[in-house]
Amino acid sequence: MRGRGHVPIGDALRVRASLDRRVRVWKRLVMPEATNRPLAVVTGAAGGMGVACAAALAPRADLLLTDLDRSKLEDAVRGTKALRGARVEIVAGDLAASSFVPELAERAHARGGVRWLVHTAGLSPAMAGWSDVLEVDLAATAVLLDRLGPRMKPGGAAVCFASIAGHLGTDDPAIDAVLDAPLAPDLSGRLRAAVADEPSPGIAYLWAKRGVIRLCERLAVSWGARGVRIVSLSPGLMDTAMGRLELVGSPGKEPLLDLVPLVRPPAPGQSRLPGRADDVAAAVGFLCSDAASFVTGCDLRVDGGLIAAMR
Ligand SMILES: NC(=O)c1ccc[n+]([C@@H]2O[C@H](COP(=O)([O-])OP(=O)(O)OC[C@H]3O[C@@H](n4cnc5c(N)ncnc54)[C@H](O)[C@@H]3O)[C@@H](O)[C@H]2O)c1
Repeated sequence: MRGRGHVPIGDALRVRASLDRRVRVWKRLVMPEATNRPLAVVTGAAGGMGVACAAALAPRADLLLTDLDRSKLEDAVRGTKALRGARVEIVAGDLAASSFVPELAERAHARGGVRWLVHTAGLSPAMAGWSDVLEVDLAATAVLLDRLGPRMKPGGAAVCFASIAGHLGTDDPAIDAVLDAPLAPDLSGRLRAAVADEPSPGIAYLWAKRGVIRLCERLAVSWGARGVRIVSLSPGLMDTAMGRLELVGSPGKEPLLDLVPLVRPPAPGQSRLPGRADDVAAAVGFLCSDAASFVTGCDLRVDGGLIAAMR
């Protein structure tokens, strides 16, 4: 006869195994830092190219996804097959708000540091006034790199989204001097003081993206010494919500469609815009891999040859 409280050893082991299983599931759901997969941070992850980049990295990284709006991020994760089974953490916030980037950096630190940073968040000229375009696309990018840079792990890489617009300006040393100090206070005020007329949002976008390309090239030197790579990526005319909005908002873009040298049969549902989010996601997949371990300090144009044709 068994005494009160006596549990056969077989039962005890089964209970223990079941408890261990539950703890493992709990850790996976509640403590994403418990995994040892590399961490990828993707900004603008509710946007057209951001979500495609997150999906490209999902098979080999844990994801920390951020964008302005939590419910849009949740919709993006739910609506993207590659993200449904992935280990995803969502952090919503405005990258241009002074408190948010430090919070994101702390989150990344708590997760053991960042292997890959894919920064796609941005405003286009049709979305905001010139100073907001400059502050979000350039100043906030500089703050993000400044705060997350020290959290990047050796062997890691950052890919910052610029634009073909960043290749279209002319050299102006006074403007470049302002663009090259994006962390100094009042970027838009300093830029306004350097030019005669108030800039349009389109000109501010061109400058901001030029500033991003130059910033990544400069940072590649100090980051390289720590074994971390950084590149900018310049998409062309891409079929995303932003691309479509710009096509309607800037009729001057229409003729550019016919200049793109690489012509492909359109994908199902694709608009007249020739670039696809998957095109940049594939490039990001390469840049965020050991196959690109000697690639840093450059800008990669993913534009079907448009800039080449315009020169
Ligand atoms: N679509 C194009 O044709 C095109 C061409 C060249 C460059 N780009 C650049 O590529 C990047 C991605 O573009 P997309 O087409 O995926 O655009 P998108 O509008 O679909 O996505 C951009 C995302 O950034 C987020 N965002 C904007 N401001 C933010 C802020 N302050 N804080 C946090 N998140 C913010 C938006 O909410 C949005 O989800 C952008 O930087 C854009 O400038 C786009």
